[in-house]
Amino acid sequence: MKNFVLFASLGTFFLGQACAESLYCDSPIYCEGPLLKTVQLAQLFPDSKTFVDMPTTQPVDQVLEAFHALGDQPNKTSLQEFVKGHFGEAGSEMEPYDVTIGSLNWLDTIKDTTYRGWVDILHHAWTNLAFKFNTDTLCKGCVSSTLPVERPFVVPGGRFREFYYWDSYFVIEGLLQSGLNDLALDMIENFFDLVERYGFMPNGARIYYLNRSQPPFLAEMVHLYYQKTKDNQFLKKALPVLDKEYQFWRKNTTVTIRQGGKKYKLNRYIVNNHSPRPESYVEDYKTVYNNTQITTQQQQDDLFSDLAAGAESGWDYTSRWTKIKETDGNITSTDILRSLDTHNVIPIDLNALLWSMETHLADWHAHTTTKNNKDASYYRSQAKHRLDALDALLWNETQASFFDYNLTSHAQTSDEYTSASLFPFWLGAVPARVHRSLDRVFDLTRRSLAKYPGILTSTDRNTTMQWDLPNGWPPLQYVAIQAMHNVDAWLKEAKYKDLAKVLAKRMSASAFCSWYLTGGSIPGELNKLDNTTDQGHMFEKFDVRSLTASGFGGEYTVQVGFGWTNGVVLWIMNNYNDLVAPDCTSSSIYPLP
Ligand SMILES: *[C@@H]1O[C@H](CO)[C@@H](O)[C@H](O)[C@H]1NC(C)=O
Ligand SMILES: *[C@@H]1O[C@H](CO)[C@@H](O)[C@H](O)[C@H]1NC(C)=O
Ligand SMILES: *[C@@H]1O[C@H](CO)[C@@H](O)[C@H](O)[C@H]1NC(C)=O
Ligand SMILES: *[C@@H]1O[C@H](CO)[C@@H](O)[C@H](O)[C@H]1NC(C)=O
Ligand SMILES: *[C@@H]1O[C@H](CO)[C@@H](O)[C@H](O)[C@H]1NC(C)=O
Ligand SMILES: *[C@@H]1O[C@H](CO)[C@@H](O)[C@H](O)[C@H]1NC(C)=O
Ligand SMILES: *[C@@H]1O[C@H](CO)[C@@H](O)[C@H](O)[C@H]1NC(C)=O
Ligand SMILES: *[C@@H]1O[C@H](CO)[C@@H](O)[C@H](O)[C@H]1NC(C)=O
Ligand SMILES: *[C@@H]1O[C@H](CO)[C@@H](O)[C@H](O)[C@H]1NC(C)=O
Repeated sequence: MKNFVLFASLGTFFLGQACAESLYCDSPIYCEGPLLKTVQLAQLFPDSKTFVDMPTTQPVDQVLEAFHALGDQPNKTSLQEFVKGHFGEAGSEMEPYDVTIGSLNWLDTIKDTTYRGWVDILHHAWTNLAFKFNTDTLCKGCVSSTLPVERPFVVPGGRFREFYYWDSYFVIEGLLQSGLNDLALDMIENFFDLVERYGFMPNGARIYYLNRSQPPFLAEMVHLYYQKTKDNQFLKKALPVLDKEYQFWRKNTTVTIRQGGKKYKLNRYIVNNHSPRPESYVEDYKTVYNNTQITTQQQQDDLFSDLAAGAESGWDYTSRWTKIKETDGNITSTDILRSLDTHNVIPIDLNALLWSMETHLADWHAHTTTKNNKDASYYRSQAKHRLDALDALLWNETQASFFDYNLTSHAQTSDEYTSASLFPFWLGAVPARVHRSLDRVFDLTRRSLAKYPGILTSTDRNTTMQWDLPNGWPPLQYVAIQAMHNVDAWLKEAKYKDLAKVLAKRMSASAFCSWYLTGGSIPGELNKLDNTTDQGHMFEKFDVRSLTASGFGGEYTVQVGFGWTNGVVLWIMNNYNDLVAPDCTSSSIYPLP
């Protein structure tokens, strides 16, 4: 009833949505049920996500009726006709948002003319990624899987036609670099509305993402925007929303760990789910059902949950979450995925983010209330307890590194390097004794970087999963570079300055060369390669084994666009204005200092 009042007050904007009153995924078309199952298993489209992004062109009851009229086992042809007759194009409830992009005020500080021209192109590329929902395009009674928001937003690109939670932090960083503060604010305020409505921030703007979140970056977005604008009204508005989001993580994902007579509380990714993710339906269906090992209902439910929790982590998928860590002659990549154990891992990155959320909330509550600092002390104490737990459980003194923690073995995953371990140094979640090891904390990272010419890998495991070797991801380069800057500041010496710069060079060269080699050009500066037909792609991930290749693997083909890559490159270019574009057709190399 409470929700009804909320929606009524928002007026007609929400009419025509599949799920306006629902707080979780329950649409008979887009979430679960015979229609979804039959259409998805018929594999009418190469990507499972396409169908669930198609709005209906007839009222929902007529769509369901027409489906039932097809009988028990409709063939592929009649399903194709059914979909064609009752659904519109994927994403057609969205329309481009006309963002006005002025000139970039720091463009002239970039010394290299090629990079300067490329940055100008990236600065203007937000136009291709900015959208708003236009639910007026839906007919009366028709539905779509959209979670509608009132303001415009930027999407990652490719199959990711709607906005995503953690991607948006890196997009917002880029928008702020581009001086598009209003669009950054629009995105953050959309998130506020979603948290108000659902009590947490969903993975992305689709109802099939309503059963899970993604790495909690909202407080970091608020922090970025507030640092830039010092807008206290904005901060006041953010606080109750972040309080609410914090309680979601606290209540839904906390585990208590006993060690050495003490109790610690940390968080993990965990999702209540017992069916294929609608947007990866065929993939999940095969993973769970097409084998002889996973037979009981309980095993199946657990795997569906761990698949969804892996997606919640943003790292879908990685050996960090699987029991089997390597392929061999008899172990396929699906076998690895079947060994998912996501909910039994305490991830270092998630807990660093939550520490940061607690610390920001303590600071901001203290800043905005003058007399009653009950909230500030609550968050201060939560942050302190978490830091104690990071110290006791996740920090490894011998290796001078943080690791994930395995709830089953009650031990660190201390034989597995992951660049997620750098999050505490980016966010400042660093226990006192760690300060004595600051001159060693990048030893493992440096060793990993020394093995390959490209950017920093996500893990050292060579699986076929996309968050493992050989893939490196732009957001993790941002985290690593910032972590190195911070540690230098704490050490009061420029110990990691050059290492950070090499990483900045490798990140920009990887993005630039893979763009150039797919047809990118700069008028009057850089001619398009003769052997290319496209116009240059910005990729979502890169192969760490070279400076010229996009990444690959995982459950979908490599995507171009790309929100977080553009954001991270703009940030790097504004912080390192003397980088020089490489010759992408000869093998350039950036050795470690
Ligand atoms: C598919 O089913 C429809 C309706 O039952 C039928 O008319 C059609 O011949 C079938 N097509 C094929 C290729 O089997
Ligand atoms: C969080 O937990 C509450 C209480 O158990 C539950 O009702 C809700 O669905 C959970 N939220 C999500 C997104 O799973
Ligand atoms: C999402 O969660 C709700 C409530 O727990 C559940 O009824 C529904 O089946 C879930 N959806 C999926 C796709 O698992
Ligand atoms: C099911 O698994 C078998 C054996 O691993 C494989 O050959 C087959 O292609 C799989 N079927 C589907 C529909 O993926
Ligand atoms: C966690 O530890 C258990 C027990 O040692 C092990 O079987 C499992 O593979 C580990 N999980 C992960 C994700 O490494
Ligand atoms: C694969 O399985 C076969 C039969 O069980 C076994 O003989 C062989 O050694 C296995 N190969 C590897 C690489 O484990
Ligand atoms: C730290 O790492 C070493 C080497 O992997 C391991 O032997 C040790 O148990 C780890 N320490 C803790 C506290 O887990
Ligand atoms: C990963 O393993 C595959 C085959 O097992 C091999 O071809 C590839 O070169 C390896 N990649 C790396 C980065 O070691
Ligand atoms: C296109 O030409 C460039 C320059 O000669 C070369 O480096 C690149 O590998 C070529 N790309 C393809 C796809 O052949």
